[in-house]
Amino acid sequence: METKTLVVNGIPRRVMVSPDATLVDVLRNQLQLTSVKVGCGQGQCGACTVILDGKVTRACIVKMRRVPENAAVTTLEGIGTPDNLHPLQVSWMYHGAAQCGFCTPGFIVSAKGLLDSNPNPSREDVRDWFQKHHNVCRCTGYIPLVDAVMDAAAVLRGEKTLDDITFKMPADGRVFGSRLPRPSAVAKVTGLAEYGADAAVHMPPETLHLALAQAKVSHANIKGIDTSEAEKMPGVVRVLTHKDVKGKNRITGLITFADNKGDGWDRPILNDTKVFQYGDALAIVCADSEEHARAAAEKVKFDLELLPEYMSAPEAMAPDAIEIHPGTPNIYYEPHIEKGEDTKPYFDDPNNVVVEDSFYTQRQPHLNIEPDVGYGYLNEEGKLV
Ligand code: FES
Ligand code: FES
Repeated sequence: METKTLVVNGIPRRVMVSPDATLVDVLRNQLQLTSVKVGCGQGQCGACTVILDGKVTRACIVKMRRVPENAAVTTLEGIGTPDNLHPLQVSWMYHGAAQCGFCTPGFIVSAKGLLDSNPNPSREDVRDWFQKHHNVCRCTGYIPLVDAVMDAAAVLRGEKTLDDITFKMPADGRVFGSRLPRPSAVAKVTGLAEYGADAAVHMPPETLHLALAQAKVSHANIKGIDTSEAEKMPGVVRVLTHKDVKGKNRITGLITFADNKGDGWDRPILNDTKVFQYGDALAIVCADSEEHARAAAEKVKFDLELLPEYMSAPEAMAPDAIEIHPGTPNIYYEPHIEKGEDTKPYFDDPNNVVVEDSFYTQRQPHLNIEPDVGYGYLNEEGKLV
């Protein structure tokens, strides 16, 4: 441990830190500045962007040993408040640039760094800047973000006013298709909106933290799960497996098409007989800190009989593929196909350019930037909430 002074949003804050802690941990967990988000935790998403001594920085990849004494740190909290919004924040609301808002703090801080160094950027400059600083957004498609920066820059240069980028209710009161900011916009552009992982920061000290022990193969039979070593790790209170699931160890609701070929109860809560995909949860470690829970989760041992891994739908559809969910065909659902006119004459016409190939894409609908978080407690009636 060492003590260090950080000048956070203009205020000197003395903190006691481990040199191995990341800057984002200190800002979020010790200084409770939860505008600084953790998406990937690996320098890839920009959710944790701060300005460190004038430089746009991803705080999740900076260890405290590299942060100089008296370093100046700017987070979204230091850029503007609901009563005193920065033009970037006003512009973000005007352009609908904060949809879910999870990326918003990182983007606005990054944009502030851009405008501090280049008050008159082109759209290309803005895009390049966000690319260079790894700012990613799962919602907007980026155009509103660039629009927002361009208008904020114009306000800062005195070419536009804040009034120009402030929504005004139309005389007829019709807001459909207008720039009416969503009700949560102010909270999102100022970092006050609370997401799952932010609520976790505010839990009482005795809160147990959970970490999953997950499969690192994509298809296997489970012969055994050994939790004995994990149970002896520091801070561990319990290690749960499928044996601890009361009632039916299955979950449904995700795939409920009437004419699918399964009963909808294909997914275990904690895997018991098989691993169906990489990352399947086989055990949950409950410990006194996230760090202890994660360390212990690494010690859960699996006895696995490896099975063929089908890494694409065509592989899983092959005639010799074994059933991933025994008793349920791998071709789980066949949508109705409506065919139009015969296309043969078109394909046969030498004047037409015909390109034929097989195209295959992943099923992930969009970037996963926000961590999945859940929490629970026993209320005064003894009920698990
Ligand atoms: S870049 Fe830091 S959380 Fe993703
Ligand atoms: S608004 Fe960018 S991630 Fe949702």
